[in-house]
Amino acid sequence: MARLLVTGGKRLVGEVPINGAKNSVLALMVTAALGQGESVIDNVPYDRDVATMSTILKELGVRVAFEPPHRLRIDGSQLNRSTAPYEPVRQMRASFYVAGLLLARLGKAEVPLPGGCQLGSRPVDFHLRGFEALGAKVQIEHGFMKAEAPRLRGTSIFINRSSVGTTVNLMLAASLADGVTVLENAAKEPEIVDQAILLNQMGARVRGAGTDVIRIEGVPQLHPAEHTAIPDRIEAGTYMMAAAITGGRIVLEDVEWEHFRTPVVKLQEAGVRIERVGPTQVLVESPVNLSRDVRLRPVDVETAPYPGFPTDLQQPLVALLTLADGTSVVRETIFDRFRYVDELRRMGADVRVERDTAVVRGVRRLTGAPVEAMDLRAGAALVIAALAAEGQTRISGVELIDRGYEHIEAKLNALGADVVRVDDEGAPASATPPASLASAQSEPSMSTNTSLPAPNPSQA
Ligand code: EPU
Repeated sequence: MARLLVTGGKRLVGEVPINGAKNSVLALMVTAALGQGESVIDNVPYDRDVATMSTILKELGVRVAFEPPHRLRIDGSQLNRSTAPYEPVRQMRASFYVAGLLLARLGKAEVPLPGGCQLGSRPVDFHLRGFEALGAKVQIEHGFMKAEAPRLRGTSIFINRSSVGTTVNLMLAASLADGVTVLENAAKEPEIVDQAILLNQMGARVRGAGTDVIRIEGVPQLHPAEHTAIPDRIEAGTYMMAAAITGGRIVLEDVEWEHFRTPVVKLQEAGVRIERVGPTQVLVESPVNLSRDVRLRPVDVETAPYPGFPTDLQQPLVALLTLADGTSVVRETIFDRFRYVDELRRMGADVRVERDTAVVRGVRRLTGAPVEAMDLRAGAALVIAALAAEGQTRISGVELIDRGYEHIEAKLNALGADVVRVDDEGAPASATPPASLASAQSEPSMSTNTSLPAPNPSQA
């Protein structure tokens, strides 16, 4: 297992390119597999979750080819197996999207239940209820969801609670159903809009994505299309916080300003200067100077579905607030996602958690310590804390960080950080999984040999 050794105290300065959105790409990959023929997705991050999804789709007969640096070709015309492989699906919750794909294309789906994970219990009951409403017979047997529907039929579905995954899955299923499906209380995340754009390019009839009512008129078949994924608003937010905690001045490149307005407002409230400086560039400038006791102001934040403050930036924000000049209150309303604060405490943070709320009392300094990343965003939070801590922090569980951040140490080091990846023995580990992916040669035609990094445990 690799580790990151982070020597804190370096101010981040420079430009950082932001990748395509991992969570969007996972939905786009499955969407592309709905089509008959080869679709192209650009701006694909080379992270482990993309690799896991690629493995699963190939097992179902979908052809997936990766072309460095950021393109995937996906052809669903040979999709022929209705049972999804157990291990990779258990590892990544988004793999449950193949249920919608299989029901729509083959009228039958056997998909392992994704199960619980480091973010607490994460049921798929809304997905299942939605499939049933569309006319599928759904049963749970031996850890698998078994669903069957020779023809799915459009209907109105009210989703109990705004859910990204449910909206993705039901859009997939409804696109090839007979008649019209109306999803009420649908998720409004930019990733949903991105999926709807690809679907429509493939010949689907989806209206209203980005609002809480989405109308999908089923079509008999979808054709291939080309699409560029939106920028990763969570990666962008993570680098904003990394710059903020180090008193840095960085420009985020290739981002969509409209997608992270709430995090921007909160960071501005804390005293960070954030400005749009170009169509896809955002400047982040922080006044922090710990040696002169110049610190950020505390802020109170509650996570919420888009356009609220994203749960995926809750952990990075708490890391940032551990050094603020006062007490912040952070309420998590989406997941059970506070276990990582024990690791921050090892670094000297003062965080008290009661149920869904963390009370973060800012301290004057953090100190490096051995810590463990428990999930993807918790790992990002530890990296942020480590960048400002005195001395060296050793972060294990880096594979979890690799699930959603391409080239994290290379990007940070290009901004002036001191981050080294080492292997079990402490020897420098140069090839991060995404880098080894980037060195893979593209194939002249579709090939199952073109591989992404091996799948990895835990769930996002
Ligand atoms: N929920 C249910 N039943 C369901 C589905 C959801 O109770 O059938 C609950 C969840 O437990 C949660 C809430 O509804 O309390 C919202 O969950 P949602 O379905 O929106 O989450 P998700 O689709 O599983 C995606 C992202 C997460 C992100 C959340 C919230 C992907 C692949 N994952 O998860 O991303 O935190 O939306 O925005 O898109 C990450 O990237 O680190 C990550 C965890």
